[in-house]
Amino acid sequence: MLTKAPRGTFDVLPEKTPLWRYIEETARNICALYGYKEIRTPVFEHTELFERGVGDTTDVVQKEMYTFTDKGDRSITLRPEGTAGAIRAYIENNIYALPKPAKLYYLTSCYRYEKPQAGRLREFHQFGAECVGTQSAVTDAELILLARRVLLSLGINEFKLKINSIGCPDCRKKYNDALKDYLKEYESELCETCKTRLLKNPMRILDCKSSICQGFVKNAPKLPEFLCAECSEHFAELKHILDSQNIPYEVDTGIVRGLDYYTKSVFEFITELNGVSGTVCGGGRYDGLVEELGGEPTPAIGFAMGIERIILAMEKANSIPNFESETDLFLVSAGEVTDFLTTLTENLREIGIRAERDLLQRSVKAQMKYADKIDANYTIVIGDSEIETGMGKIKNMKTGETIEIKLTPDAVSDIIRKG
Ligand code: HAM
Repeated sequence: MLTKAPRGTFDVLPEKTPLWRYIEETARNICALYGYKEIRTPVFEHTELFERGVGDTTDVVQKEMYTFTDKGDRSITLRPEGTAGAIRAYIENNIYALPKPAKLYYLTSCYRYEKPQAGRLREFHQFGAECVGTQSAVTDAELILLARRVLLSLGINEFKLKINSIGCPDCRKKYNDALKDYLKEYESELCETCKTRLLKNPMRILDCKSSICQGFVKNAPKLPEFLCAECSEHFAELKHILDSQNIPYEVDTGIVRGLDYYTKSVFEFITELNGVSGTVCGGGRYDGLVEELGGEPTPAIGFAMGIERIILAMEKANSIPNFESETDLFLVSAGEVTDFLTTLTENLREIGIRAERDLLQRSVKAQMKYADKIDANYTIVIGDSEIETGMGKIKNMKTGETIEIKLTPDAVSDIIRKG
């Protein structure tokens, strides 16, 4: 137990952190291109925020939250997603008093008590973006373009973009009534959770994971038939912009998303993950959430993608780059040369050279082996004669070439920087 990470969690070890940083930097750079600014919110929030925001009839709230009572007797929940916290921060910090729209992005850990499998974890990481304060379908399209650009920049070229509109609360009320009428007949056979959903929020039955409930909803009424004129127009405009930018997409009326705050446009990017198709990115408009959480009525839209799923998709696409060595130089000590080595290493670090030196008093051979293992670009062996003459040999570990140089920080860094 003690030396085993909890189920559904994992460590990102040093050999994998360059890939994580690469994905995070790609996301950050693309957010900068679109004018999105980073927001960081607490890992835990008051449970009520998610019950109200995500919705208390959703699987996330009903089955998957990590909730506990703290020592002050408050109900606290580890965030299962990033949107509710970002919007809570938006309201609390009065961001709505700043110029609109607020364009926010985050790279954050999330927690859901799910059955772990490839691409489904209990602690996972999201890159998400939220645009708060605009109605227009141009924003919906822009966010889809942003998400798409991130996937493409990471070499994930094979994906499907699926879009749908789930309408405004009025459309949904009509739809929920129709769904309730239709499903009433099967009420006694629905799973226990869906029995409650039939009363409180029938639409949630559409994304129940039970195959029995899925069987009943197959021929149920479809949401697009219930869209009002305004919602239809909004959706038509989104499709028009995507067409104008030659962005392939598929309208999939089955996409309702698993969280309650969505209104109008919803979308998912589907790609192959470990041999099965899965959602790498999901999002949509949530025009009622700011008000629901106590702010002014403010339209908004966003998406989030799972970093672990991005990595699976990159593996499939063979697009994980070879990362460069993180060590410029390894200084090998041959004998009692500690002070000279300490000074030279520190002086090199001072001018930005990533320099390592022996810390285990190993033999020269063992140190060279180590330098090779950590993929150092250069090595210099320093012994008594190097200290006496102030001259040494720098070896390029990739080509095997050695050059005689003065052992000064400038001379050494010159060779390293020239490559
Ligand atoms: P979501 O669809 O629940 O939406 O999650 C977004 C993405 O997070 C998924 O597409 C998936 O890549 C990843 N993800 C979700 N659950 C897991 C898990 N258990 N393990 C690994 N990855 C997972 C949201 O969270 C919304 N907040 C997105 C959003 C932002 N909508 C508007 N703004």
